[in-house]
Amino acid sequence: MEVNPYLPHSARIYDYWLGGKDNFAADRQVGEAMLRAIPTLRLMASANRTFMHRVVRALVNSEGIRQFLDIGTGIPTRPNLHDVAQQTAPDTRVVYVDNDPIVLVHARALMVSNVQGRSEYVAADLRQPETILTEKVLRETLDLGQPIGLTMIAILMLLADEENPWAQVAHLRDAMPPGSVLAITHPTADFNPDAVGEAVAAARGAGMTLVPRTKEEIARFFGDWELLDPGLVPVPAWRPEKPVKDAESTYYWAGAARKPITTNPRE
Ligand SMILES: C[S@@+](CC[C@H](N)C(=O)[O-])C[C@H]1O[C@@H](n2cnc3c(N)ncnc32)[C@H](O)[C@@H]1O
Repeated sequence: MEVNPYLPHSARIYDYWLGGKDNFAADRQVGEAMLRAIPTLRLMASANRTFMHRVVRALVNSEGIRQFLDIGTGIPTRPNLHDVAQQTAPDTRVVYVDNDPIVLVHARALMVSNVQGRSEYVAADLRQPETILTEKVLRETLDLGQPIGLTMIAILMLLADEENPWAQVAHLRDAMPPGSVLAITHPTADFNPDAVGEAVAAARGAGMTLVPRTKEEIARFFGDWELLDPGLVPVPAWRPEKPVKDAESTYYWAGAARKPITTNPRE
């Protein structure tokens, strides 16, 4: 697949909101239309990035996790996941996955790891989880017998209900060993249905799939895994480093859940 500058794409719109340069007029146009509906979208994109930093540090420090599988990586934005993890645990290994050709162009930047750690990039699609799991480089980089931090930050809203994102995530959960942790952020209309509805209409009008989901729908991505404190909360309220006011003005839920030692059959 080649980069098509005329079709707006989530990775490049996100890059635009984050102040990056890897975006085209078509991306900026939709990004601006969405910003008219929700003027704080840029702050929300940053809040997702800083959630990623906090959750990765928590998994490294408190859960002892030393390997990550990050699906829907996006255009590299420093610090990337491996920068954050390796700052604390230099031997951490990371496999990044994205299906967008523009992210592939930047894959080299994602793969600059320190000498003790390792990071790799796999061009693959969340809708085909088995192709991710059987990828040679993944098998060479991650030990599927040891706990893994499985991160899906701001990606699941890009899959329609008809694509059954719950089944795709369950497939990945099932392949993870006990003690692994799944971390997710997902946009929602729960806090401001009108503004989110307008932003979604702008994205869909440009041919994109964008599905905000309710707290209950998002909770189902974790299956029978145990939600870590503080549960499924607005993104800024997940283990904030300083007190947060008005967390619900970020229209995203965030949570992290651990795979128990013995699991019940999945729902
Ligand atoms: C909004 S960006 C989020 C990037 C990053 N996780 C972050 O929070 O900064 C969503 C990313 O998911 C990727 N993506 C969308 N659908 C995907 C799929 N089916 N398989 C793999 N990656 C996908 C997009 O290409 C994009 O890079």
